[in-house]
Amino acid sequence: MPDLRNYVTTPIYYVNGEAHIGHAYTTFIADSVARHSRLKGIKTFFLTGTDEHGQKIEESAKKANKPTQVFADEISRGFKDLWDEFNISYDYFIRTTDEDHKKGVQKAFMAMYNNGDIYKGNYEGHYCISCETFFPESQLIDGEFCPDCGKPTNIVKEESYFFKLSAYEEKLLNYYDEHTDFILPKSRRNEVINFVKGGLNDLSITRTTFNWGVKLPEELNDDKHVLYVWLDALLNYITALGYGNDEKNMAFWPANIHMVGKDILRFHAIYWPAFLMSLDLPLPKHIGAHGWWTRDGEKMSKSKGNVVLPKEVADTYGLENLRYFMLREVPFGQDGDFSQRAFIDRINSDLSNDLGNLLNRIIGMSGKYSEFHIDSKDVARLHQKELDEMNSVLGNLEKFLDELQTHRYLEELWKLFSIGNKAIEEHAPWVKMKEQKKDEALATVALVANILAKASVMLNCIMPSTTTTISEALGFTINTEAYRSLILGQGLLKPFVIAQVPPLFPRVEQPLLEPAPEANKPESEDVEEDNLITIDQFFQTSLKIGTIVEAEEVPKSKKLLKLQVDIGEDKMRQVVAGIREFYSAESLVNTQVCVVSNLKPAKLMGMLSEGMLLAAKDENGLCLVRPESPRKAGSSVG
Ligand code: MSP
Repeated sequence: MPDLRNYVTTPIYYVNGEAHIGHAYTTFIADSVARHSRLKGIKTFFLTGTDEHGQKIEESAKKANKPTQVFADEISRGFKDLWDEFNISYDYFIRTTDEDHKKGVQKAFMAMYNNGDIYKGNYEGHYCISCETFFPESQLIDGEFCPDCGKPTNIVKEESYFFKLSAYEEKLLNYYDEHTDFILPKSRRNEVINFVKGGLNDLSITRTTFNWGVKLPEELNDDKHVLYVWLDALLNYITALGYGNDEKNMAFWPANIHMVGKDILRFHAIYWPAFLMSLDLPLPKHIGAHGWWTRDGEKMSKSKGNVVLPKEVADTYGLENLRYFMLREVPFGQDGDFSQRAFIDRINSDLSNDLGNLLNRIIGMSGKYSEFHIDSKDVARLHQKELDEMNSVLGNLEKFLDELQTHRYLEELWKLFSIGNKAIEEHAPWVKMKEQKKDEALATVALVANILAKASVMLNCIMPSTTTTISEALGFTINTEAYRSLILGQGLLKPFVIAQVPPLFPRVEQPLLEPAPEANKPESEDVEEDNLITIDQFFQTSLKIGTIVEAEEVPKSKKLLKLQVDIGEDKMRQVVAGIREFYSAESLVNTQVCVVSNLKPAKLMGMLSEGMLLAAKDENGLCLVRPESPRKAGSSVG
């Protein structure tokens, strides 16, 4: 057997607030991947931890009136305690304030410096403290606000060391080209590729305006700088393995998967690979970017008071129910909504009805027919059809987990329970018993026991403790050996006596948590729950047909075109639109478009924009939405 290794990471969490459901989601997926990998007998290293430097943390500590390190210690401990309570199987919990990490970061900085990728210069730009990122003016909203989080940016001017990111443009593009599954889901590849194609500026990687960060290596004798928090943070993935210190776990590098949220994909899919190329280290195999969780259709925020706290949910509904729900409910990469109704439906229908009842049924039947003794001896003879169906499901399952499609993985896995339930209905063991065909009745019970056993092995990574209870009831232990014999070897359970377990998934009849504040006062129930709007709300948006009369490129912008659009008013409307990558200015003149005409005017790169064009975008690019045949300028759309 080759010496297989697997390195799985979560992002390291900022220590400026307690863990919420989004953090739990990333951690649950990574934990499930790590657990399944260990089950397969692969040496696995699973890393999580906290990201503790930067201005944001310094400011949060000030607000809390605590020394920054004390503040960071407390919140970091909160994350660690939560993951321990949640039975997260991490192998190492890194903190960026660890001495070893800081030493490793300085070593990496020196290595990049020595190979000519770092130089000293000056930086002036718009900085978002919340995202700890500089943005070019062209990307700001209304010339001021951060395009990622919407908060105001500040102009920062400082001496800075730069990383020659621009030198890696082509190498990165080649890498994406050659490794089409580097970014998962694949649908997110293009957004990264387009960003790189749009041109990469060198990256400012030190700051002089605050102190809370890793100091520059002593060799550089420049103590007014601290390292940019994202360089510091990304390097955690190798310092955790001992990079720059004892290197003791570096054999785990490269990572198989960095799990991240979609908001931090760019850092992981562009900056991080470039840093690694500079360090002459191999690149991670996959970056898995998941979507964001909302609550009852609303973005979660402290100010709205609608943040879902994972501990509260787990304590109320059960930790493993929560894991199952989150991983089953949302296609990987898409945004997900946390609503108690959807959660309760999953518990009652998938867990209680499909899985729980099946176990109860075979406990009940084996108790009645054979004093709880179960023997697989006649299963292959009498149930080959079901065994074939089961093996075909099991044979196709793992690819979904490899692609992080946990919802598909679970959906497929649940087919096993349908096979079990169908077999019971079709073969009706109670009838067979009456007909004195005890062997046949017991074979069906044993078939279902095997189905449950195999499903438990594969479900173990998602619901470790519940499946351990099931396997104990079924007289076996879930481990690599069981995986090899029951799954890979398609073997069946040895004779055993089934143990009675209390119902594993009691039904939930009504929501157990207080509703989110917003959900208390819906205008009408349907509207709130289905995220629908009324016709009146729709007509609050004024959509008009416009004719583009003039179009010109905006100097120094790769994205923007400045358009004069006739929408049937006395004056032309000036619209600044980010469509230059998809349309040339000349090609637009005298064509028609749909314009949102009652948007508050905004400034883009200092130019007034008095409307927005409707456009549709997918992985093949962007196209404008236009009338099928010419209409009078100013005609309303709707
Ligand atoms: N410290 C950086 C990561 C550095 S990794 C080298 C960071 N931390 S964070 O605490 O702000 O976010 C951690 C993760 O939580 C990110 O992957 C982010 O996408 C995720 N989430 C934060 N809010 C979320 C939701 N509402 N839903 C899902 N995940 C979200 O970024």
